[in-house]
Amino acid sequence: VSPLRLGIAGLGTVGIGVVKIVQAHADLLAVRAGRPVVITAVSARDRSKNRDADLSAYAWETDPVALAVREDVDVLVELIGGHEGAARSAIEAALSAGKDVVTANKALLAHHGQTLAEMAESLGRVIRFEAAVAGGIPVIKTLTEGLAGNRIRRVMGVMNGTCNYILTRMESAGLPYDTVFEEARALGYLEADPTLDVGGIDAGHKLAILAAIAFGTRVSFDDVVLEGIGRVSIDDIRRAGDMGYRIKLLGVAQMTGRGLEQRMMPCLVPAASPLGQLEGGTNMVVLEGDAVGQVVLRGAGAGEGPTASAVMGDVLDLARGLRIPTFGQPAESLAYAQPAAVSAP
Ligand code: HSE
Repeated sequence: VSPLRLGIAGLGTVGIGVVKIVQAHADLLAVRAGRPVVITAVSARDRSKNRDADLSAYAWETDPVALAVREDVDVLVELIGGHEGAARSAIEAALSAGKDVVTANKALLAHHGQTLAEMAESLGRVIRFEAAVAGGIPVIKTLTEGLAGNRIRRVMGVMNGTCNYILTRMESAGLPYDTVFEEARALGYLEADPTLDVGGIDAGHKLAILAAIAFGTRVSFDDVVLEGIGRVSIDDIRRAGDMGYRIKLLGVAQMTGRGLEQRMMPCLVPAASPLGQLEGGTNMVVLEGDAVGQVVLRGAGAGEGPTASAVMGDVLDLARGLRIPTFGQPAESLAYAQPAAVSAP
């Protein structure tokens, strides 16, 4: 049997995590996929950088587009990040060259997921992106496979670990926002542009992707009503606590009479509820289906191992020949007979 040959674009934390899993679990992956899963080539800007993995067996490309079109690459694993530039060019080049794509790029999908999914579909290729939403939590697979028999009523979640860390630390240590923000920066939790985290944008990207899958709609990040955590004070947190609530940066997506409503903002959640018990940098997603009721998923939303775990789940699907298109298809959208997405007030 022919191996599935991966080209890894981007050798940051997640890229190295993927390399480590492919190397450490080669036997397991081959058994599960029914064929070997191998890395043939990698790309990153700086080859001389010291990395925590042995890359000597792989071909090296400095340009991710060159990696994407290599003849010895079947699947591009895009872990560069960013919603314009190299990541997008590499994905488009891979699809055009007849390759499938696995990506963890939430910003790219939130902004251009629809265009890329349509491009993939027209070329008979697939883009998988489990790692883009809630890191290691297999929420996309849960929606598209395990809950496929349900009409989804609502999707909720805490999907930015950094914000949850800041809010829970303000609460437990009684420290103001600015102090905890600096702590989070020192710990390396914040994205290069911290507004992505604390402005709710990163979590909004994830919600928009999830909502499109849950409700069979077009991905529409611009319709997410966004508010970050920068204005949450210690007093707010204390007052919420006195009433039996905690403040979480909570995303909610639901279909209403006016269309799809997507909100990501600081919310009061009952302290005794699953969401109210979420501590530190963890993520939680709550899915509500008409048949199943409520399903709660909790786990690590970021980091080398968890994010690489989600990437590998997608890689294994492709190795097994599972080619489920993930974004809403026209037929699915019709089944919901819904008005166009509108912004909530
Ligand atoms: N900055 C993100 C978080 C990383 O804190 O959850 C994972 O997307």
